[in-house]
Amino acid sequence: MKNILVAVDGSPTSLKAAKQAVDIARKYSSSLTFLSVVKDPDIFFEGRSEIAAGIDMESVLDSLTKQQKNMLDEFIPTLPDLTDIPYEKVVTIGDPYKGIVSMAEDKKSDLIVIGRRGYSKIKRLFFGSVSKNVVTHAPCPVLVIMEDEDE
Ligand SMILES: Nc1ncnc2c1ncn2[C@@H]1O[C@H](COP(=O)(O)OP(=O)(O)O)[C@@H](O)[C@H]1O
Ligand SMILES: [Mg+2]
Repeated sequence: MKNILVAVDGSPTSLKAAKQAVDIARKYSSSLTFLSVVKDPDIFFEGRSEIAAGIDMESVLDSLTKQQKNMLDEFIPTLPDLTDIPYEKVVTIGDPYKGIVSMAEDKKSDLIVIGRRGYSKIKRLFFGSVSKNVVTHAPCPVLVIMEDEDE
């Protein structure tokens, strides 16, 4: 268990997942990669190019990326002590599940830790779409952490 990839969207469930990942990393002397994927606005605007036309995509992406970086910067200190655990924070742009899967391939991750639900809770679905797609396409085992009941 050398490399563990943790998918972070800033939601309480992803925080719970990250805490779990820190415990595992400590037990197995693993390194951690905290990954947050900025949803590429192009995905959203697909087939709606008339809306996208007036928008400076580069600056939108820039500010979304900064926002996610800040989120990770504030997120990490809320975790249990990371002393002696090598870790990195990574922000990429794209389709979140694809970004998580390809990062796991690149890093040769031994485990992906992810929350079952994120921010856009749609209660009728059992899994969130990101977690579902990661479980389906991951190159390694995936640990899915349940949300707290009161959420
Ligand atoms: N953009 C993202 N970047 C990194 N991880 C993400 C991202 N979106 C979701 N995740 C991970 O997937 C988990 C489940 O989220 P998701 O499948 O999006 O559920 P929901 O549909 O409820 O938002 C989160 O707890 C988090 O671990
Ligand atoms: Mg989500």
